[in-house]
Amino acid sequence: MPFIFHNLDIDKGEQPMMADPTQPRIQANMVIHNIGQLVTLAQQPLPGAYGPLQVIDNAAMAVLNGNIVWIGREGEYEPMFHYDTQAPQDGITIVDAQGAVITPGLVDSHTHLVFAGDRAEEFHLRRSGVSYGELLAQGQGILTTVNATRRANTELLLELAKARIDVLRTYGTTTVEIKTGYGLDKVTEEACLRIINNLNALEESPLYPHSQVRVVPTFLGAHVVPPEYREHRADYVDLIIDEMLPSFVGLARFCDVFCEREAFSTEECRRILAKAKALGYQLKIHADQLSPSGGAALAAELGAVSADHLDYASDADLDALRDAGVVATLLPGCSFTLRSPYPPARRLLDRGLHVALATDFNPGTSNCENMQMILELAMSSMGMSLEEALMAATINGARALALEDQIGSLEVGKRCELALWSIKNYREIGYHFGTNLIRSVLVLR
Ligand code: NIG
Ligand code: FE
Repeated sequence: MPFIFHNLDIDKGEQPMMADPTQPRIQANMVIHNIGQLVTLAQQPLPGAYGPLQVIDNAAMAVLNGNIVWIGREGEYEPMFHYDTQAPQDGITIVDAQGAVITPGLVDSHTHLVFAGDRAEEFHLRRSGVSYGELLAQGQGILTTVNATRRANTELLLELAKARIDVLRTYGTTTVEIKTGYGLDKVTEEACLRIINNLNALEESPLYPHSQVRVVPTFLGAHVVPPEYREHRADYVDLIIDEMLPSFVGLARFCDVFCEREAFSTEECRRILAKAKALGYQLKIHADQLSPSGGAALAAELGAVSADHLDYASDADLDALRDAGVVATLLPGCSFTLRSPYPPARRLLDRGLHVALATDFNPGTSNCENMQMILELAMSSMGMSLEEALMAATINGARALALEDQIGSLEVGKRCELALWSIKNYREIGYHFGTNLIRSVLVLR
């Protein structure tokens, strides 16, 4: 059920709040009230908040032009409220959260959601024992999706991506990072980047106002070597460095690489990422997913924003990541799909790394748009507490996108991008599993 919006039109003489001249006044054009539990994840202690996630019971918040300007208890906001009498036509929107739990919108900081086709048959082949690596080495796996994506037209790719965004939003995601990597030629990679950027600029749906997901584009030309370069792979690396990276400046914020025996060597990744960094891209690495690949060490060396997967990272690698301030993004959907061991979350958390969780939504290793499923796996199979998992899916997801100044927690100065849950207590998350606990999201642009 969507939020209840009550638009008060001051020109019609409605009086929603009374300004008390003795109180400091706050200018706002939206109030969200009747919040049963506001799980702020604030990074600074908030008055009246408790627990590691800084929870406020019976809360309200005020927003001006999409920025949070006040957070407090229900009943406290009226006297603090102030209309801009110079612009009364702007009115004010009152949102009744109906006693629900509100958290920051979930941040899915690692997906590959622009692709055509599916790999259902490969999924079932793997049930009978064929490995992911074997399929890739035989020219299937990622290359199956590259073929389907190259053959698809832009309209189809955009429609498929839009439908996937609609799904992930229903599960509470308000920011999603999307990688290319199924084009692997300049024309298709560029088309995919333009699609990802278009997703960020879509019109709001009249049915679901204020629910437009924020999209962060990443260029992953170094996903695997495309078949036409199999015998001269160095030329493909040169193509990325000399042609793709310079042309895609402004279309992608991040450059990512798949650093793995089946994909690109540490040395190839170092060359690509060094060029990307010089051009102003921020860096990510698929590191140590299928074997110890040197990816984590490279992420630390180059100051990547995040290193993702890390299933096979050594203790020394993890210490290097922590010391370099690299966010460790764990992707349990892959372990679930590939029936491989889950990433070693406790080893990372106990060493003090910032751990993020993401879906890795892709047609091969994690065909899942649902961040709640990822939270459930983190709690059931990786030894993470609910609080650790929620941090990983919000503020640390934001860190993994270098957006922690804007999103990932609900506090004054940040953007109003939140998820409203159909539960009475946030501690039900993970306990009640396998069902969608999200009622709606609210994203003010
Ligand atoms: O993150 N590891 C590389 N890329 C994806 C899988 C992509 C695919 O299989 O299509 C991943 O697991
Ligand atoms: Fe991935």
